[in-house]
Amino acid sequence: MSRLRLFADDRPDAPLSVIHDHAGIAAELAKIGVDFERWEAAQPIAPGDAPETIIAAYRADIDRISADRDFITIDVVSIAPDNPNREAMRAKFLDEHIHKEDEVRFFVAGSGLFSLHVDGKVYEVLCEAGDLISVPDSTTHWFDMGPEPSFVAIRFFQQPDGWVGHFTGTDIAQRFPRYSPAANSDSKKRNLEKAIADLKLFFEPWKTKPYGPAIWTPEETDQNGKFKTSVISKCFSILDAAESILHGTHHLNDAPQEIDFDEVDQTLSDDPELRKFLDLTLSANQTRKIFLSIQREKSN
Ligand SMILES: [Fe+2]
Repeated sequence: MSRLRLFADDRPDAPLSVIHDHAGIAAELAKIGVDFERWEAAQPIAPGDAPETIIAAYRADIDRISADRDFITIDVVSIAPDNPNREAMRAKFLDEHIHKEDEVRFFVAGSGLFSLHVDGKVYEVLCEAGDLISVPDSTTHWFDMGPEPSFVAIRFFQQPDGWVGHFTGTDIAQRFPRYSPAANSDSKKRNLEKAIADLKLFFEPWKTKPYGPAIWTPEETDQNGKFKTSVISKCFSILDAAESILHGTHHLNDAPQEIDFDEVDQTLSDDPELRKFLDLTLSANQTRKIFLSIQREKSN
């Protein structure tokens, strides 16, 4: 849900007001010349859609806003939480700066935090999917995409180098809250708890304790025993890491190994337990993925 928090620029710890309704946010931002609009897609769009499809879905609004201003170009930028350059990308506009043209962004998906510093106040705007924000030329501001950036945005440009940041050299942005989506973090923990519960269920076919040494497969009676044992062992590592990160006892730099799904599929292609091992592998890798996401968040 979009949100505006208004602060005195010397009181980053205590917002003066918090507004959640879109019309209220737009009215408050209009006072400082900032446009804040809500756009609806003309046709359904899905994650991974091509830029042309995304642009087509918002064509009417894009044409309207482009007619009002002199945009020479638009593009679609997409950033995922596992982008290897995410730290550098996040750092780029994290300090107070201005641009010599309006900074206009439409959030197709995901979210980001714009903070505008105007007349002794900081307007912290949490932009969510469907929000358009237009930060006027020369307005001091900063932008935080968070430690695990996740958004798709349409950007509008008036000049080829208009997006270049001119930094003010102040440390104000460092004193204000950074973007760390807490709700996101809570929901990841719930997802991990569920993934752990599912993973434990996948040990059930062996009719043993939820997991434990009793499911070790002896090599003497099963030609794939050694391989199965290694898969199960990797599952244990994933389960162990997942449970310990939930309980706050996990060593931050350790990450369990991914299980090679194709290798399981090929090695056990004629094995009666193939299905069980594929299910187990999928479940373990899914658990690992959520684990890694929480680990990344914690290490930032
Ligand atoms: Fe900017």
